[in-house]
Amino acid sequence: MIEFRGVHKTYANGTKALRDVNINIEKGEFVFIVGASGAGKSTFLKLIMHEEVPTAGEVIVNGYKLSKLKRREIPYLRRTMGIVFQDFRLINTMTVFDNVAFAMRVTGASKREVRKRVPYILGLVGLENKARSYPMELSGGEQQRVSLARALVNNPALIIADEPTGNIDPELSYEIMELLTEINRRGTTVLVVTHEHDLVSHFHRRVIVIEDGTVVSDVPQEQPAVPVSEPANDVVADVLDTIQSAPKGSPADAVIDDIVNGGDAQ
Ligand SMILES: Nc1ncnc2c1ncn2[C@@H]1O[C@H](COP(=O)(O)OP(=O)(O)O)[C@@H](O)[C@H]1O
Ligand SMILES: [Mg+2]
Repeated sequence: MIEFRGVHKTYANGTKALRDVNINIEKGEFVFIVGASGAGKSTFLKLIMHEEVPTAGEVIVNGYKLSKLKRREIPYLRRTMGIVFQDFRLINTMTVFDNVAFAMRVTGASKREVRKRVPYILGLVGLENKARSYPMELSGGEQQRVSLARALVNNPALIIADEPTGNIDPELSYEIMELLTEINRRGTTVLVVTHEHDLVSHFHRRVIVIEDGTVVSDVPQEQPAVPVSEPANDVVADVLDTIQSAPKGSPADAVIDDIVNGGDAQ
């Protein structure tokens, strides 16, 4: 879904923001991107959004080779992604409903589609009762959920969040992250830049670490340990019972031989 091949980004003032980045992110993944301030995390996201272009190398997103992207194709690329900003970027003169509806209307959605979809998405982020409120009447966590609803309303394949919890309370950060997890569970690929180590270690997802423009670590999602289930324990106990109680030369011996010798028992 996202591929970086030998990507370098040097800004006009000579700042080398990314150096030789090679990364593959598959559809359906949930990835944390971490690193110190100035490491190049936002630049990494901006290259995906095609807000910046690489100085060298190739970025491929949702099937679009970005170096070959025509100007008129940019809106189509952007429609495949929903973006969540640290500072929410809501329109303060519009209600919650209209902030979310606006993102749909610009894509040419019909009134009927908007009336159906917006309440559904507000429900998904737990704001069904705030549709008529204005952003300034909401808490920071609620505002971020509006911005998440807006990012989701056009059903993007990819959600990109640049420090989405940077301006909200820690306990609300978990809430936002739980929501992103739920969205990911429904099939959307999620990329989250954060510097909150507690969050990263709590959610056990793939973690890409960027340091001084270079990917220095890429740890895959931790697989949950599979506990030995009760039935499996019962089977093991049964087998042990059989082995211990069976006289030599019984059918159980043949079975054990089979297991030990890979089926070549004489
Ligand atoms: N538009 C720009 N022009 C020049 N330098 C920039 C620009 N944007 C970012 N930088 C520089 O590039 C480096 C990486 O920035 P950024 O990707 O924003 O890092 P992060 O998001 O990890 O804090 C920093 O040194 C930053 O100052
Ligand atoms: Mg940044």
